[in-house]
Amino acid sequence: MTIRIAVIAGSLRRGAYSAAVAKYISEHAPERFEMRAVPIGDMPLYNPDLEEGVDPPPSWTAFRNEIERSDGVLFVTPEYNRSIPAALKNALDVGSRPPGKNMWGGKRAAIVSTSIGKVGGFGANHALRQCSVNLDMRVMGLPEAYMGDLADAVDPDGNITDKRTADALNRFTAAFVAWIERRDGV
Ligand SMILES: Cc1cc2nc3c(=O)[nH]c(=O)nc-3n(C[C@H](O)[C@H](O)[C@H](O)COP(=O)(O)O)c2cc1C
Repeated sequence: MTIRIAVIAGSLRRGAYSAAVAKYISEHAPERFEMRAVPIGDMPLYNPDLEEGVDPPPSWTAFRNEIERSDGVLFVTPEYNRSIPAALKNALDVGSRPPGKNMWGGKRAAIVSTSIGKVGGFGANHALRQCSVNLDMRVMGLPEAYMGDLADAVDPDGNITDKRTADALNRFTAAFVAWIERRDGV
């Protein structure tokens, strides 16, 4: 059975380290995992007026449908000013509305935060965990994944070249697969 995962990278930047990490995990997941990169950069900022009594923006509908169809979600996000980038927060908000149609509810998910710094995006990781409570997502607890120093771990083509980073991502990927497949006994 194919397991469909929505892979959401928090950065819109060409050559983003978070996209490189998302690609690495996607390529190292088992074949039965269909890892689908879901773009978030073209959605208008959430505003209820855009769907009250009118059809919502098509990009919102496409995004909501993609989340609804997914069996799980993988977030890979950089830290912006100790929190998540605005584009990612917008995607969370769009997916949570209109009232009563929260597409995130009950979805199994996991979070990787990324940074060029040493702290590995801890603030973004936990800002996203805070949102996930109200979104009613089942976010994997351990292993936590704070991926730091990525400028030294990713080559210009977006390949992970640092062994410690690759090893950590391999461990994370194995745990993520088990979490999604509920092999954790929960
Ligand atoms: C607006 C902005 C705010 C940032 N704030 C943080 C921060 O709080 N913590 C951090 O570790 N890095 C911060 N950075 C640096 C990012 O780690 C770095 O730009 C990283 O490459 C972004 O991820 P990406 O490569 O996936 O786009 C910030 C970058 C930008 C553009």
